[in-house]
Amino acid sequence: MTTILALTLLIACGESDPPAAPAAPAAPAAPAAPAGDATADASGGAHAEGEKVYKQYCIACHQADGKGMNGTLAGDFTSGILAEKDDATLLQHINEGFTGKIGAMPPWKGVLTDDQQKAALAYVRATYQK
Ligand code: HEC
Repeated sequence: MTTILALTLLIACGESDPPAAPAAPAAPAAPAAPAGDATADASGGAHAEGEKVYKQYCIACHQADGKGMNGTLAGDFTSGILAEKDDATLLQHINEGFTGKIGAMPPWKGVLTDDQQKAALAYVRATYQK
């Protein structure tokens, strides 16, 4: 009896499927880079570029509502922090990174061009600034 049970277990084990190979990590979805689809209107094009940059690089911390998890994760753009500072200051902080009371924002130079940084700032001001 014991032998049969052991044999059954052995057979059962022998027949078990090999451990599943770990699933390959999903490749990060490459953001589609629409080439040359900027709208004819220059400001509209810059706005579209800024929105694209924001959604790709800034939204993780600043969030879709621009509040940065109510200022716990990143600066809350709707709280008036942008109105206090001019473009040159903010662009420098975007370019070189900025550490304040909330935490540290990484520098974007080397990741985004000056034009992309400007477009992102313009988008943020137009969309969230109060
Ligand atoms: C890794 C998280 C993170 C990402 C991603 C991020 N930021 Fe920030 N950002 C912060 C934090 C944190 C602060 C606020 C620092 C503080 O005040 O303590 C901040 C502050 C700012 C400020 C205000 C700076 C100031 O002088 O008060 C601007 C403007 C800004 N971010 C723009 C951007 C733009 C544009 C992007 C995308 C290109 C971006 N951020 C992406 C974390 C992030």
